[in-house]
Amino acid sequence: MSATPLQIGLAGFGNVGAGVYKNIEKNRHLLRERTGRDLIISRIAVRDPQKARAFALPSDIVTTDLDELVSDPDIDMIVELIGGTSRAFELVKKALESGKSVVTGNKALLAEHGKELFAIAEKAGKPIYYEAAVAGGIPIIKTVQESLVGNHIQSVVGIINGTCNYILTRMTEAGLDYEEALKEAKDLGYAEADPTLDINGWDAAHKAIILASLSYGCWMPCDEIYVEGIENIKREDIAFAEALGYTVKLLGVIQLHEESGAIEVRVQPSLIANDHILSSVKGVFNAIMVHGDIVGETLFYGSGAGQDPTSSSVIADIADAASRIDAPNGTGFVTHGLYGKSLPVEESVSKYYLRIEVDDKPGVLAKIATILGEREIGILSVIQPEDDDEEHASIVLTLHYAKYGAVCEALGKISELNCVRNTPVLLRME
Ligand code: HSE
Repeated sequence: MSATPLQIGLAGFGNVGAGVYKNIEKNRHLLRERTGRDLIISRIAVRDPQKARAFALPSDIVTTDLDELVSDPDIDMIVELIGGTSRAFELVKKALESGKSVVTGNKALLAEHGKELFAIAEKAGKPIYYEAAVAGGIPIIKTVQESLVGNHIQSVVGIINGTCNYILTRMTEAGLDYEEALKEAKDLGYAEADPTLDINGWDAAHKAIILASLSYGCWMPCDEIYVEGIENIKREDIAFAEALGYTVKLLGVIQLHEESGAIEVRVQPSLIANDHILSSVKGVFNAIMVHGDIVGETLFYGSGAGQDPTSSSVIADIADAASRIDAPNGTGFVTHGLYGKSLPVEESVSKYYLRIEVDDKPGVLAKIATILGEREIGILSVIQPEDDDEEHASIVLTLHYAKYGAVCEALGKISELNCVRNTPVLLRME
């Protein structure tokens, strides 16, 4: 065992930061045995020390100055849990340039600035660890980096936002309204401080960018991926999906198109068949299916958010860094030239669910079918529930495999029909 403890500067003492502090204390002995070093959080930087907190801030080691963590020569490692991208970027950059290893759970930071930060890490010869940035407590980063290192990754598909999965599950199983379910997710601490990023799909998108970049050795630009959230999912769509034998999930899809070498990255609410294993992933749980050319299909499941699961991943990184600090082994990201092209979303292919509110008149379905047929989009099934409203009707269609661009174009034409009453709802069926 090394006589010198590992000194950690912790930036941020929110839900996850407090969890890291609490759980390092809880399992101190175990961690010392396993890493060979004592892990000491010797300084904590917070914006407002007076803020009411569920877990008391150890006031003797608190500062409000992030630079104090970086300039302290005794601190070996910075754990960045402040979130956001501006101050976090400066902190991580300065930490690396000061010769400190970095652990971060900040997916937005890596998705937006990963390329730049890993170049700084390379130059400084110091690694960045980021297990907590994707899927909370599921060890997916080390899995792709280490356990699947011998594979070409063919696809990564998963439920990677716990808040959205919680909201959709509560809407499905308890019949809650979207707003009620969101409030529950916030009260339970699953949603980000600003839940907009959860529900508009961007939290999942940041994670998808990290997974895509890690799988394909090149940083996928944020503006080359397609993102849609769950804000417009209605209970009636969940009910129609149920009637068709499907469950609505927010899905991250990362897929290599072998012939063109292009990489498809998108986040969209999608229908998953009830006999598919991902449909049974409920509540705040996440699940990620990784398909490698050698290993075949693999599935990783666990808590995708929450204080303890996420702090488990941060502590794993701290322990990893503690073991490797004297013998660094790369920066945590390996670029390579095999891939680099992203697939435009218009080219991506799937089946679709389409709900259209129309005037209940003869010929309406024929007009819709003609627009689809002209674009060679086949109809798989049609439902038109009988109801008491004699003027309006909901038509639910499921469509055969087709390019997203063609379906969106058809939808534009359908929306222009006089008989159509709403903006049609389009969901993918995966
Ligand atoms: N708000 C995130 C989620 C937390 O709901 O998945 C973990 O990133």
